[in-house]
Amino acid sequence: MLFSFTRIFAALTAAVLFLPSLASGADAEHGEILFDTCVGCHGSEGYDNVYPTYKVPRLQGQWPEYIVVALQGYTDGSRNHPTMTAQASSFSMEDMQDIAAYISTVGELANGDVVGTAPESAATCVACHGANGQSMAFAFPHLAGQHQSYMVQALKDYRSGARTNPVMAPNALNLTDADIEAISEFYAQQEGLQTYSD
Ligand code: HEC
Ligand code: HEC
Repeated sequence: MLFSFTRIFAALTAAVLFLPSLASGADAEHGEILFDTCVGCHGSEGYDNVYPTYKVPRLQGQWPEYIVVALQGYTDGSRNHPTMTAQASSFSMEDMQDIAAYISTVGELANGDVVGTAPESAATCVACHGANGQSMAFAFPHLAGQHQSYMVQALKDYRSGARTNPVMAPNALNLTDADIEAISEFYAQQEGLQTYSD
């Protein structure tokens, strides 16, 4: 399905209006302590989720505001991943903000030109995620450099309804498995996100 620009802009506006920005008082030092339990999975390049097998997402360089929203997604049921729900559900909003603030101190998004040619099926994605997978607004996650296998899983979850974000899910509905593989491969090869390392 091709989205009209009107619909995309309506979605953009809604997403930006309803997202909280990161509190200026977020405490990165407290976030570092909380992040200790996360490093085993998110700080290891080779760590895989099992059943199904895919790589744990890269967080370094990601928008901190999006990290908070993603963590909330695991607690409010809009994302379906029992381990991450268990991880996130013990945190207050302040804790999540502190963690996101800490992650933003360890490294920036690597900047790069577009590598290769985007598949045609990615034409609608660039409005929110950027031509090289680096988005312009914190409402939209950076995809540049994210693991291919993780993006494949996420896109299939939006398509099946296992992830229910109303801004993103409609974009995945008509993607074929081949589209999903090709788009994810394209974004994965861009420079950008990295595996956490302190
Ligand atoms: C046992 C391994 C494991 C641990 C421990 C873990 N995570 Fe995760 N995390 C994952 C996996 C796997 C996913 C992808 C889940 C999915 O498919 O939605 C994920 C997803 C995320 C996401 C979403 C990323 C994105 O791009 O949307 C964030 C943010 C996150 N984790 C933060 C944390 C934080 C903070 C902690 C520590 C409190 C933590 N994780 C602990 C495995 C783990
Ligand atoms: C109208 C804006 C918009 C458009 C267009 C859009 N997305 Fe998204 N996308 C989002 C938002 C917002 C999220 C975060 C949703 C959430 O919190 O689960 C997201 C999340 C994602 C994720 C998961 C990232 C992660 O770290 O978990 C992937 C992969 C993705 N989009 C790929 C695509 C692809 C491929 C297309 C085009 C077919 C596309 N998006 C089009 C807004 C958009």
